[in-house]
Amino acid sequence: MMREQEFMDKLSETRRFIIEKVNIEPQMGVILGSGLGGFVDLIEDKVVIPYQEIPNFPVSTVEGHKGQLVFGKVLGKTVVAMQGRFHFYEGYSMQSVTFPVRVMQVLGVSGLIVTNAAGGINPAYRPGDLILIKDHINMMGDNPLRGANLSNLGPRFPDLSEGYDLEWRQKALTIAREVGIHPQEGIYAAMSGPSYESPAEIRFLRTIGADLVGMSTVPEVIIANHGGMRVLGISCVTNMAAGILSQRLSHAEVMETAERIEKQFVRFVQALVKGLA
Ligand code: HPA
Repeated sequence: MMREQEFMDKLSETRRFIIEKVNIEPQMGVILGSGLGGFVDLIEDKVVIPYQEIPNFPVSTVEGHKGQLVFGKVLGKTVVAMQGRFHFYEGYSMQSVTFPVRVMQVLGVSGLIVTNAAGGINPAYRPGDLILIKDHINMMGDNPLRGANLSNLGPRFPDLSEGYDLEWRQKALTIAREVGIHPQEGIYAAMSGPSYESPAEIRFLRTIGADLVGMSTVPEVIIANHGGMRVLGISCVTNMAAGILSQRLSHAEVMETAERIEKQFVRFVQALVKGLA
């Protein structure tokens, strides 16, 4: 585990590197999940920085993930989008997975929209549905805040009782209707992956109250809350979780559904940035 001062120094170095390249101050951060990268086409006055060029950034490895920060404007609001995220299952530490959220925090970002592809556990869901995350269950067996608290960045014991901001969720429902979608709300369980869950694990997750399952999002949301950001989370149900239907899961199905819904998802996120920022 990195020493606190060393971490703060790295964060400052990364911040200095970015503010030298980017003139705008992002109000809102957006993390784009698998196959949802098309959002960056809506960003104007873009400054694109590949992760490899950013000091102290981990480097993305998974297919379908481009790996760059995109700064610019969406309908007049200033944003920084992560096109491609870091996953715990890739072998990164929780600190590495969430480093970009810390960078957003020190750049002055006060709100974060987090998106992902997820398996549907709730039988009322269908592949292709967009679901507003109302809460999460951390089943990853780790926490990005483990270790010494960085008291300049947030409190030792952050409250997560509104980890997904209630007012934003209510606004998001209104905004969704305006763009012609009617999302349900659900609870997202985060597993470490990379194997998909067993049917028995899915029955367990359903029993403990999960509606969705995925392998991301929760670390970033914990850090964003620690850093005092408001968070909105949206899942695209790319498949029904293992054992819910009598069919097998594949990464290909996940990517196909994400692609099929991408245009609608992108329009929704654009409207959210405009309405929430
Ligand atoms: N399980 C875990 N992660 C996922 C799934 C799933 O079924 N679908 C998309 N990401």
